[in-house]
Amino acid sequence: MPISRPSMPAVVPIRTSRQRVIAISGGKGGVGKSTISVNLACTYAGMGSRTLVFDGDLGMADLNLLFGVAPELTLLDLLTGGPAEDVLIETHGIHLLPALNGSYALANMEEHVRKRLVRAVAQVAMDFETLVVDTAAGIHQNNMALTAMANEVLVVATPEPLSLADAYACLKVLAKEMGKTRVFLVPNNVRSQDEARAVAAQLDKLARRFLGIEVVPLPHIPHDPAVPMAAAEGVPLVVSRPDSPASRAMKRIARELDAIAMREEPGTSARDRLRALAAGGMPA
Ligand SMILES: Nc1ncnc2c1ncn2[C@@H]1O[C@H](COP(=O)(O)OP(=O)(O)O)[C@@H](O)[C@H]1O
Ligand SMILES: [Mg+2]
Repeated sequence: MPISRPSMPAVVPIRTSRQRVIAISGGKGGVGKSTISVNLACTYAGMGSRTLVFDGDLGMADLNLLFGVAPELTLLDLLTGGPAEDVLIETHGIHLLPALNGSYALANMEEHVRKRLVRAVAQVAMDFETLVVDTAAGIHQNNMALTAMANEVLVVATPEPLSLADAYACLKVLAKEMGKTRVFLVPNNVRSQDEARAVAAQLDKLARRFLGIEVVPLPHIPHDPAVPMAAAEGVPLVVSRPDSPASRAMKRIARELDAIAMREEPGTSARDRLRALAAGGMPA
């Protein structure tokens, strides 16, 4: 005979950790966007945040290599109705939503497919506290749609003149077309503090003067030979070499981003934004 149980009130879990959606953007290829995506994600995961990394460089799938995984299913399977739990890969403490290497269909998608993609990613991301979106080089619409998912946009720039020019082009689109009033800047691959300051000062000056967008500098990442070594091994740097200079910089960036968010009044929260996107709308 079944034992009847007293009815229990539904338990509503209280989420104590902050939800963040971070897009790693910045114009030029090869400036370190994927490196930063992978290592920032692993850093947040190491701090106890349930973290999803989305490989938004849709045609390249670099993140598979950086995490040392070979996905059987990809984003395309998610888009065609495959269950998220089959597509996500758990590796080095994070979950990866992989792109499809060499996928023309994904790299050149039409508007309605792009909307479906953003919606699908947002739905998956609702189960996570941190979403890190790696993006491709350039200011293609795919990139901008993916960047628009984030409440925190990190623009990566190196001291090379071409990188600065591309970072500026990216800031322009973020300011003029996406209405962003503030982005974060990560100077990467720099040889000195002065070089990092120069990157930040140059972009901030131009952005304030011509774009009306604030560029908040985050801690810089030094040139570190351990970065390409970790990439070649397929193990994230912060996992394999947590004390290397670039690893320590990643941790400083994660802490600084959190400290800034803690000081601020919550605007449209990342959760509200994701919820709107998951329902098929666009965030305010
Ligand atoms: N701080 C750094 N020190 C040394 N090499 C770096 C650093 N950041 C990135 N790299 C190297 O630069 C190359 C491009 O990095 P990647 O993250 O793939 O750039 P992106 O995603 O912007 O194209 C890789 O070979 C990577 O190992
Ligand atoms: Mg990349």
